[in-house]
Parts: sequence; C-alpha cells; structure tokens
Amino acid sequence: MKDIEELTKHEAEIELKRIAEEMAKSDIAYYQNDNPYLTDAEYDSLKKRNEEIEARFPELIRADSPSKRVGAAIKSGFGKVPHRFPMLSLGDVFSIEEVDDFILGVKRFLNTANDIIFMAEPKIDGLSFSARYEHGRFVLGATRGDGTTGEDITDNLRTIAQLPQTLPSGVPDVLEVRGEVYMAKEDFFAINEKYLAAGKKAFANPRNAAAGSLRQLDANITKERKLSLFAYTWGKVSQRCWNSQAEFFERLQEWGFPTNPLNKLCHSLKEVEENFNHLMEIRAQLSYDIDGIVYKVNDIALQERLGFLTRTPRWAIAHKFPAEQALTRIKDIRIQVGRTGALTPVADLEPINVGGVIVSHATLHNEDEIKRKDIRINDMVVVQRAGDVIPQIVKVILDKRPADSQEFIFPHTCPECGAHAIREEDEAVRRCTGGLTCPAQAIERLIHFVSREGFNIEGLGDKIIEDFYHEGILHSPADIFTLEQRNDDGDLFSHQKNSALHLESRAGWGKKSVENLFQAINQRRLISLPRFIYALGIRQVGTATARLIAQHYGNFTNFMTDMKNKETAKLVQIDGIGGAMAKDIVEFFQEEHNLQTIQDLLQQVRVEDFEDKTDYNSPIAGKTIVFTGTLERMARAEAKAQALSLGAKVAGSVSKNTDYVVMGADAGSKATKAKELGITILSEEEYLNLIKS
Ligand code: IVH
Repeated sequence: MKDIEELTKHEAEIELKRIAEEMAKSDIAYYQNDNPYLTDAEYDSLKKRNEEIEARFPELIRADSPSKRVGAAIKSGFGKVPHRFPMLSLGDVFSIEEVDDFILGVKRFLNTANDIIFMAEPKIDGLSFSARYEHGRFVLGATRGDGTTGEDITDNLRTIAQLPQTLPSGVPDVLEVRGEVYMAKEDFFAINEKYLAAGKKAFANPRNAAAGSLRQLDANITKERKLSLFAYTWGKVSQRCWNSQAEFFERLQEWGFPTNPLNKLCHSLKEVEENFNHLMEIRAQLSYDIDGIVYKVNDIALQERLGFLTRTPRWAIAHKFPAEQALTRIKDIRIQVGRTGALTPVADLEPINVGGVIVSHATLHNEDEIKRKDIRINDMVVVQRAGDVIPQIVKVILDKRPADSQEFIFPHTCPECGAHAIREEDEAVRRCTGGLTCPAQAIERLIHFVSREGFNIEGLGDKIIEDFYHEGILHSPADIFTLEQRNDDGDLFSHQKNSALHLESRAGWGKKSVENLFQAINQRRLISLPRFIYALGIRQVGTATARLIAQHYGNFTNFMTDMKNKETAKLVQIDGIGGAMAKDIVEFFQEEHNLQTIQDLLQQVRVEDFEDKTDYNSPIAGKTIVFTGTLERMARAEAKAQALSLGAKVAGSVSKNTDYVVMGADAGSKATKAKELGITILSEEEYLNLIKS
C-alpha cells in the first residue's frame, strides 16, 4: 500500500471512496447479517488510513466518510444499556435425579421438610430481552449482553406486535418485564426458503434467525422478520404487586404480555417428572423450539431467602432435554465428494420429523464408521439432531434388521469423475485423485473460495455456483472476476464464444441482483493475504493456519516461491504447522492445475501484503486458547481472529497444552475434558475481562 505522503490527490480520492464502501459493507455484514468478514484489526487499520488521508486532503472528506459516524456507534452499533438488576443465567441439569438433588438442596438451605412448590416453564430457545416501562409506556428495550450491560434494542422491540407499547393504569411506575424473543419454526422455514432462493445462506436454526433479526441496526429489517415472544420474569420494579411466580404470570396476562400456556405449577417430584415427560413428548409438535424446562421456586419470599450464587439464582434451575432422536430407515447410502476429494458416505433416510425439523440425510463420516456401527442399507436406525449440527446416526436397531439389508461396498473410484480413490495409510478418508478435473471437487473448491472466511462474495450461493459450473459459466475462481465483462460482451470461453451471459434475465434474477453481485465481486479485487491463502482451499489450511502463514511470509510471492521449491523445512518452523500439514501445503503447489488457477487469479485480484499488527504484549500472547459452546457477545470467527491478533494460538481441541478454554452456552465434551485436565475455564465475560486487562 502506498505511503499517504506519496498519494496524488486523485489517488487519495479513489482510496477514500474504496474505504468508505468497504467499511459500510463491513458494517452491514457485521451488524445486520451477524456475519463479519473483516477482523477488528483490519477494520481499525482501514479506519486509521481513512483518517490519515483525510488529514492530508481535508477537501476530499466524503459525506459518507466513516470518520463522520460516531466512533462508538460504529464499533458497537447499539447503545449500551446497564441493567440495574443483572440478567442472570441458570444452572443446567440433565436428569431427574439431579432435579431431585436441586430440590433437596433448596429444602436444606431453607431448613424445611415441607414440600416446595415449583413453577415449571418450558425453556424457550431464543434470545432474552428486557423491556422497561415508565408510567405504563414502553421506553427502553435491551438484550442480555454480558448480564450487566446489554444493547439498546428499543426500536427493534417496538416492531414486535406482541410486545405491548402501553400498559393499563395501575401498573408500577417503573416496571422491567423480561422474557424471550423467538422465531416460530414456521416463520424460520419461510425466511430460510426466501434466503436460499435469493442465493443467500440460510440460518442454522430458529434461535440464530431470531438473534440475527433482533440485533439489526435498521429496525425496518426486524419488522420484516416475524418474531414472537414470551414474558417470564422481571428486572427493576418500583413496587412489586405479586407474591409468587404464578401471580406474576396473572399480572403479565392482565397487562397484555404473552405468557407460555404450558407454564405449570408442580407440587412434587412426581409432578415434575410427569410434566417433563409430557413436554418431551409434545416438544416436536410445538410451533417453537424449547430446549428444556426451567423450575423456579414459586414463592417469592422463599426466592429472596435463597438468593443467588455468582451468576445464577439458587431458586431456579434448567432441566435440559437430551438431543432429539427418532427412528427411521436408511433408503440408500451414497458418496459425496468434497473440496479436497474426500469421499464422504451419506445416508439417505426415509424423511422423519426430528424435533420439528424434517431430516432426510445423515452423515456417516467414513468407511470405518460404517463398519464400526455395522450400518447397512435398509436398516432401521436412530437419528439424532443436537443444536445446529448435522444429523447423526446413533445406532442400528439390530432387532429390526430386515432380511434384505445390504452391506455397503465402499467404492475405490470416484463416483463423480471415475478417477481412482485412494486411502493413504493411517488416514480414515479415501480421496479422489481427479483434482480439478473432478466436477465435484471443482464445485466444492469454488464454494469454498467465495465462502465467508474466504473471498466472502455474497450472492454466489452454493446452488448458483453449481448451476454456473454445469452451464460452463464458472470453472475456476478467476472466472468470477470476468463475469461482469462476459455478461454484456460474451466471449472468453471458447465453447461459449460471443454469447453474452445476460444473468439479469435468468429466472429469479433481475437487474438489481446482478448489479449487487458485480459490486460484491469488484470489492474483492483487493484481498488480504490470509483470506487469499485460505480461499485457495489447501488441504488442512483453515483460517488460523492461513493467518500463521501470512504472518510468517508477509506476502504471497515469498510464500509461493518457497512452496514451489518444496521448502517443507521452512514451513514447519512456523509454530502451529506440523509435518503432515506442511506436506499437504507443499504438495498443493506441485500440482500444475493449482499453479494455473493461482496465476489466472492474480491477473484479476491484488493480494495485500500482510502487516503484522499482532499485539505480542497482550495478556493472552503466547497462550493456547480453545473456544467452545455458543458465544453470545461475538461470532466464533471474530473471537478467533481477535485472539490471533492478540498473539494467542487458537486450537480446535483441548489438550494438556491448552491454557484457557473459553466456554459459551451449551458447551459439550470440550468443557468436560478441560475440567478433567485441570485447565482454566473462562466464561465469555471473564475472557473479555482478561483481554481487556
Ligand atoms: S428465567 C434468573 N425462564 O434461558 C432467571 N429463562 O439459561 C433468569 N430462558 O438467559 C432466566 N426460557 O434466555 C427463564 N422460562 C424461562 C426461560 C428462560 C428461556 C433462557 C433465558 C436465560 C437462559 C438461562
């Protein structure tokens, strides 16, 4: 990048425009789509460069300059709302025995032998909110945030019809009502269908869809999405006119708040268990996702005596449901070919409703897995859907194995291109050797190339890439950058000579969407080195490794020269790159078609040199960190990128070398393993405090 001192006025003007566009786009990706593509460091350096150019050419300051937007409003987007009364979370238990322990604990604490009455409430899988009313008028809405400070979502909450804007007379002067915003399954399917048709990425589950819809800087977008809510607790109130959770629900109903019709008082462990079993049974038929049941001591005087632990009340607990399972039949097993040629067996299932979502495929991972679980075509199997993961086959019901069940013979040739499929010693996967002559690999490579962490080109969804590939419109990444020219002029592809593409006349497209696509593509003609390396799709090279390489080599030429010269030894000097990975990387650069792809691409895009802005003095510099569970304050990719820029290493699995495990909601086996190994576990909040310190 040119020194600011050396820029001509014309060049400065062009750059200011580029930066303004880039930052505006990044803001939209970050705030509206919950899908960031610039790291904080990249964002900050753009902002800094913008300011420096403006200082030299004040006459060029644009009306839409990022410097004109309030700093805080850009960075955090939403105003901050301190919670006068913290928004807490709940302890989790997974069995009725643990619920019994909880109830015994409550009785012990209260020093009573009397039965305690509990309110059992379905645990809505959404996003918690707090709505403040002053003199009966809705004045402030907030997300939970870190529990102490949330984000101001007043305008967004106003768009949800179920939230009363004014309350009847007689309500407390100050009243904070809290509850859960969620997206009904039906609305979730509808929005995803719309997104997929438009070539956008679908939301993984209703919870993500609700979060992405509520946390919109532009409340008009929230309004378009159908959101619903249930109220279930309170924050600050000037005068409490209820003495139990049951009475509170009565008040809520009088005031016009939706409460869950399945909330139920339980007078004994037996009732608790019956209620649990009942809700488990009807769970799939509910129009919204629930992931457990919350038990709250009904009597508020008792709640007050019980009080709080650090982050959770002693008077409430969440009884989580196990992953949703169902029984179905394997109709067939087929092979999918991935970006690196890996042959993955996939089971085609008789479509089955698993917790309200129709499942018709499940991954079988690899050939050993099929053998280990002894899975055959026509077998009856238990399938499971947990959170947003791909459905899994838990086990075969051998008692129900039909006479015509068939063993699956794993192919030794690629079903897509016919090339040999080879399984290397000590590898679990068999791979197609067809490289980019294999259509499946070529398509997967293109999909990877435009993905969020790669070139992040919105508008080129999986389906579109597949169609374009088969129609001969796109074969290699460089073709993406000649689309615009070919759209009007035709040419370039010998077999398509002179026929202009006219994408705007394709079904479902239009002038605007084509313009947007070309704009998205052109914005990527300048690309950061880590993104470029990642996008190439080298086996084993994810975002973290791409960044390590970028950091080490500084520019693409240096890296490529060493790789062509098979300098494996130099690669393994990079902390975090081992022998096997180095071998894969070097091999990638020995393949003629890969070198050709890169050469073509470099005709179209410019790769920015990597400026190392890593903070090697940060509190986590040199530490190895594992992120697990759902993070609430930042996207996982963003958290990773930030940790790397603070000089930490980010690992995917917990080992004795791990320094910290940062645990989000619903953390699974990694948290358990960390506990076993005695590794420091941090909540998201503790982690953020650590890196701030
Ligand atoms: S009560 C101090 N009630 O679960 C009590 N929470 O793991 C705080 N949730 O952050 C929460 N349904 O987002 C409560 N009926 C319900 C709930 C519920 C869903 C969520 C909420 C909370 C999380 C706690």
